[in-house]
Amino acid sequence: MRLFELSADMQKFSANVRAANLTLGLVPTMGALHAGHLSIVEKALGENDRVAVSIFVNPTQFNNPEDLQKYPRVLDEDLQKLEGISQNRLLVFAPLVKEIYGDNLISDRFDLQGLDLEMEGKYRPGHFQGVATIVKKLFQITKPHKAYFGEKDYQQLAVIRKMTQLEQMPVEIVPCNIYREKNGLAMSSRNRLLSPATKETAGYIFSALQWCAANFDEKEIDELKAEVGKKIASDSTFALEYFEIAEADSLQLAEKKEENKKYRAFIAVFAENVRLIDNIALN
Ligand code: PAF
Repeated sequence: MRLFELSADMQKFSANVRAANLTLGLVPTMGALHAGHLSIVEKALGENDRVAVSIFVNPTQFNNPEDLQKYPRVLDEDLQKLEGISQNRLLVFAPLVKEIYGDNLISDRFDLQGLDLEMEGKYRPGHFQGVATIVKKLFQITKPHKAYFGEKDYQQLAVIRKMTQLEQMPVEIVPCNIYREKNGLAMSSRNRLLSPATKETAGYIFSALQWCAANFDEKEIDELKAEVGKKIASDSTFALEYFEIAEADSLQLAEKKEENKKYRAFIAVFAENVRLIDNIALN
């Protein structure tokens, strides 16, 4: 499996793939790959001749320096996992921060039309400008036909779609289902920072979301929010940062249900100082 650290090498590879009339898929990641990432890579391999997995912990999307510093970095382990999937059709792009940002470690500014303001955007100011910036850069370097993003980061997916549209980038954005542990906990690179006991009880977060989906038709939004808040507060390991119900496309927060609209619930919880997010379709 090939590993590129320089943008120029990645660009050359992508140009050759296109010149040979082959298709290239991109799976952007920040590494510490888990089974959810690997399932996305498999899906991308099923739909493209070649697949690039980018591994890059992007500083501009971290609003908390401690979070950036403790983000797991395990490149050798990641490479081994990917080798096990395909040696011929997969390649890894793992640049250094300087290669991507030079001496200018700042985000571009995108008019994300409100998609970046609530939930993750509210609690992680600047996060989505950083995400849009790095994804635009990765698209410019790798020039993929399709790019794959997990629905665990549902708001991120909406932001990336918007950025791609604003910048008129010819890349098809492919959403991928949330991959879960047996207990329902959404897979995340951050889960490896949890103790085994907390990882086990954290399945409770998804149970609360499932409860919300099951009761969505019968209960008002404020009742649902209050009840989920109580459920999370009942275990002192967990501290709720937010639980919101939003319209599924605009991501505007909802206070009352309206006919013919689709809604989704979004949650962020701290456990042992690790921030966990999840979401679920409600109707
Ligand atoms: O979801 C992630 O891992 C990151 O936000 C992404 C899309 C790779 C951008 O750094």
